[in-house]
Amino acid sequence: MASLRYIRRFAVAKRLGLAYQSTNVKPSETGKLTSQAVFDREDKYGAHNYHPLPVALSRGQGVHVWDVEGKRYYDFLSAYSAVNQGHSHPKIIQALVEQAQVLSLTSRAFYSDVLGEYEEYVTNLFGYDKVLPMNTGVEGGETACKLARRWGYSVKKIPENKAKIVFAEGNFWGRTMSAISASTDPDSFKGFGPYMPGFDIVPYNDLSTLSEKLQDPNVAAFMVEPIQGEAGVVVPDEGYLKGVRKICSDNNVLFIADEVQTGLARTGKMLAVEHENVRPDILILGKALSGGLYPVSAVLADDEVMLTIKPGEHGSTYGGNPLGCKVAMSALQVLLEENLAENAAVLGQRLRDGLSVLPKDVVSIVRGKGLLNAIVINKKFNAWDVCVRLRDNGLLAKPTHGDIIRFAPPLVITQEQIDECVEIIKKTVLSFA
Ligand SMILES: Cc1ncc(COP(=O)(O)O)c(C=O)c1O
Repeated sequence: MASLRYIRRFAVAKRLGLAYQSTNVKPSETGKLTSQAVFDREDKYGAHNYHPLPVALSRGQGVHVWDVEGKRYYDFLSAYSAVNQGHSHPKIIQALVEQAQVLSLTSRAFYSDVLGEYEEYVTNLFGYDKVLPMNTGVEGGETACKLARRWGYSVKKIPENKAKIVFAEGNFWGRTMSAISASTDPDSFKGFGPYMPGFDIVPYNDLSTLSEKLQDPNVAAFMVEPIQGEAGVVVPDEGYLKGVRKICSDNNVLFIADEVQTGLARTGKMLAVEHENVRPDILILGKALSGGLYPVSAVLADDEVMLTIKPGEHGSTYGGNPLGCKVAMSALQVLLEENLAENAAVLGQRLRDGLSVLPKDVVSIVRGKGLLNAIVINKKFNAWDVCVRLRDNGLLAKPTHGDIIRFAPPLVITQEQIDECVEIIKKTVLSFA
């Protein structure tokens, strides 16, 4: 039955010159795709693993995105901080197009003339001996965990299969089995067991519990976000990262910094760990490493850690491909050339100052660093409703954990644009007061 249906639909698609149109999508009277048609089609044919804000985007440029009806919005999510350089940055697009025309993928079965160039560039930029290229952020986290376990066995001499990795409560590093095994959010882990063994949790921003936990000689690593992004932009106390560094060093435990969201200029420094001048043993980057054009992630470490993994023991077909490498180099150059870390620092402060006057009975907290910010909406209001009204007023943001709204625009935003956005947010919030 199913295959008959498939053959019939395929025949129809072929007759239409492959421009197969779902019979369920009704274009508007003008023949244009409507937002509602976009919602309906995704709902019908896509898995329901997301609950998007009802806005159907078809174009992006810089800090703006446009919906299918042509309405323009400020993007205050930046694809969860993947689009730090702004949508469709011309320099990154050019790198993508030029490399795509020459060589896109070799796999790591062969050398390419681009991978080494990228490896040299990125290791020099961040000051590590080596890089291991992957694609998505969660693959970066998986890679860091594998490196930590391997280092634990071969360098720290932890007995076989006894290595532990400690994570902070509220962490988020993706959706794989390992990532959800480390998660403390039931929405992430519930109903997907059994979980990865050898993972342990400490409260975030709590150095004394961490200190106790890391005394266990079987702990190989502590993995932590310098600011917890998905948890709702939770900024730890000053001194936390310095403390983490010291406790890890004192106990011969690797400090893994997950900078997939906080890194690459987002918080006002190239890396968020720079706010406390600390150097992690393993650094994970992703998202903005490709400026939103292509999944590129990276794990950086020194030889003592990186060379514990030997040929054939880890990898990825797409990881380190020439296209991704060129895109990443150009995405990093844009961050540096356009001083986007400085811009994030200055305009982030301006944004928080602007929002500090919001009525406390609607917005109880404004917090963040650089252009990674959040407001906490008083429980008597619904953050989703606030986001829908922000959308109506021309600004896109997404609630997290029910009452928190993240504000993280592309870092290319200007002072005038930040001021305009502050006015949009104020007007929206005041309409609830
Ligand atoms: C801190 C952090 N690490 C890892 C990830 C996972 O990245 P990806 O969705 O590219 O797998 C995320 C995604 O939001 C993240 O915020």
